[in-house]
Amino acid sequence: MAIARSILLRASRSQWLAESLMRRPFAKRAVKRFMPGEELSDALDAAAALGPANLGTILTKLGENLTSLAEADGVRDHYLDAFDQIQQRGLPRSVVSVKPTQLGLDHSMVACAAHLETLAVKAESVGSILWIDMEDSSYVDRTLALYRGLKARHPAIGIAIQAYLRRTPADVDSLLPLNPIIRLVKGAYAEPAQVAFPDKRDTDKAYYELAGALLEAAKQGSALPIFGSHDLALLRRIIDRATQLGVAKDKYEIHMLYGIKMEDQRALAREGQTMATLISYGSAWFPWYLRRLAERPANVWFVMRSLL
Ligand code: FDA
Repeated sequence: MAIARSILLRASRSQWLAESLMRRPFAKRAVKRFMPGEELSDALDAAAALGPANLGTILTKLGENLTSLAEADGVRDHYLDAFDQIQQRGLPRSVVSVKPTQLGLDHSMVACAAHLETLAVKAESVGSILWIDMEDSSYVDRTLALYRGLKARHPAIGIAIQAYLRRTPADVDSLLPLNPIIRLVKGAYAEPAQVAFPDKRDTDKAYYELAGALLEAAKQGSALPIFGSHDLALLRRIIDRATQLGVAKDKYEIHMLYGIKMEDQRALAREGQTMATLISYGSAWFPWYLRRLAERPANVWFVMRSLL
């Protein structure tokens, strides 16, 4: 399992594979399982369809590591328009999540911070929230610095934090004074063992411990934890912990990805949990799709079936 994960994560960085596979109809068919379409309008339609089941949505356009800083202006403008379209369609529980490298982090920290600031101001002006995804470990210091800078001026900003990183407990401690909004995820990238736990059981243990610390903070009103996971057994333990601590259901949330465990997402919403589904869209789906396959290598059989 670990070998399959590692091969898929390496493959996710191959430009050659991306170019050869993305044109193939079978690959396009397979990727549809995880995304409603390539256009913002596809994501908005899916968000509208999930609303009646009490599922909020987080919209994110695929594409990372831009080739030039100029492309980041287009990404910023795309998201500004996304906030407007969410408003026009009357989707109050739809928000936006961005990757710092999509906004030019590889080229200029200053430009990336300026784009994030523009999007945070926009989110605030429409009563929404802006989410910042976490990418591989080489970006963590810079992403945290960007978050700290913005959070002081714009309270409605959330950040993803990865439980598999050995550094994360210290990062969470250092974020708590900011009254953070934290989406706790396990972590999706290939990382060396000195940086991230190679054994999934250690990640799961770290996730539960971090969840406990975040729930304690939520109890004091000093954090809003979001549990981004499809691990239903782990989520059940976290819900139990929240109940024991007396943390109300509107003081934490559970987020999952579009196309994964959708029935469970609906059932948790019916149970009164605050739920949201992260919907990805866009044409640059290759590295993201391979990370989804790596999370559950059995998904590769699904691709093979659609190939046949
Ligand atoms: P785990 O991998 O243990 O899976 C639990 C169960 O869920 C599996 O047994 C399987 O049944 C099912 N499952 C999980 N993934 C599946 C898949 N792809 N296909 C089918 N079934 C699947 N990562 C990151 O590094 N930075 C980020 O910013 C984010 N953001 C983010 C937002 C949200 C809302 C979610 C849900 C996840 C992320 N992630 C992320 C991804 C995250 O780090 C992690 O890789 C995946 O969520 C898979 O881990 P689980 O917690 O689901 O547990």
